[in-house]
Amino acid sequence: MNIKEILDAVQAFEIQSAHDLESFRIQFLGSKGQIKDLYGALKNVPNEDKKSVGQQINQLRQIAEDKFASFKLTFSDKNSDEDQLDLTRPSSDTLIGSHHPLSLVRKEIIEIFNRIGYVVSEGPEIEDDWHNFSALNFPPEHPARDMQDTFFVEKGENEMALRTHTSSVQVRVMENSTPPIRTISPGRVYRNEAISARAHCFFHQIEGLYIDKNVSFADLKQTLMFFAKELFGEKATIRLRPSYFPFTEPSAEVDVSCTLCNAKGCNVCKYSGWLEILGCGMVDPNVLEACGIDSNVYSGFAFGMGVERIAQLKYRVTDLRLYSENDLRFLKQFTPGN
Ligand code: DAH
Repeated sequence: MNIKEILDAVQAFEIQSAHDLESFRIQFLGSKGQIKDLYGALKNVPNEDKKSVGQQINQLRQIAEDKFASFKLTFSDKNSDEDQLDLTRPSSDTLIGSHHPLSLVRKEIIEIFNRIGYVVSEGPEIEDDWHNFSALNFPPEHPARDMQDTFFVEKGENEMALRTHTSSVQVRVMENSTPPIRTISPGRVYRNEAISARAHCFFHQIEGLYIDKNVSFADLKQTLMFFAKELFGEKATIRLRPSYFPFTEPSAEVDVSCTLCNAKGCNVCKYSGWLEILGCGMVDPNVLEACGIDSNVYSGFAFGMGVERIAQLKYRVTDLRLYSENDLRFLKQFTPGN
């Protein structure tokens, strides 16, 4: 028997299944296998060659055993082996991230207004006085311009500040387009407030603007009614209370019926049955003119809402600080399927 021939056969043997592996074992390593035969034939080898032939057979056996061992890992009998795989075992948890509740609410609000033809527009967070105040009809001595409320980045001639509201984007849109205009502007705003459960130095707003010929207050009310029902459910109703904003005339604040208690009264609506959700009004002709729109031809309405406030109502979040603390116990509640 030729050692080289057997070595070639060992190396060429293809093992593709547990059955092949067993054939390999029987043919080469078994008690009646070819390598065993070689050891038997050793007695016929002349004495002076015995040592080197014996070493060659040992080498061959080692190669065959190594090959067998490496394939055994792959094809070992899964039903009898101790280290068998249990395919019924539940897999370990995969961590799934989630959208931030403010992102969820912003997305939902944008989708609602997209359905009635509003497009998204955005503006810078660092604004000049014109876009944040002057074009919006804020008189020079208006308290909202005060240091107490506004974070100034640069004082003096080129005054720049962190925008205090997204109404600044209205101005930019009107300056850069011709009516009809239907736009919503989501974004982050900043105010110099002490941080507490009810106030924060930054928060998010969504601004809405509609400018066309013959736009009336009734259009505004109907739009907001549609929005409230889409967001809070068919049963939701709204009420408008007269209010004041420099950039709208007339102005109103809008309450939605408390959907948490079906307007019966609860601690969230302070037992009034109503929740304030936004400010709105007809765009003041001074604002239209300041932005280059002829107020004799066009009219329009605007509204602005706080995203934190709406998320608070939808998810019953009672402390504004939770939104920015990144506490996983809070954020995990918004993972889909939770
Ligand atoms: N900018 C106002 C605020 O920050 C919200 C607002 C009120 C926006 C009335 C409007 C509006 O567009 O018409 O409190």
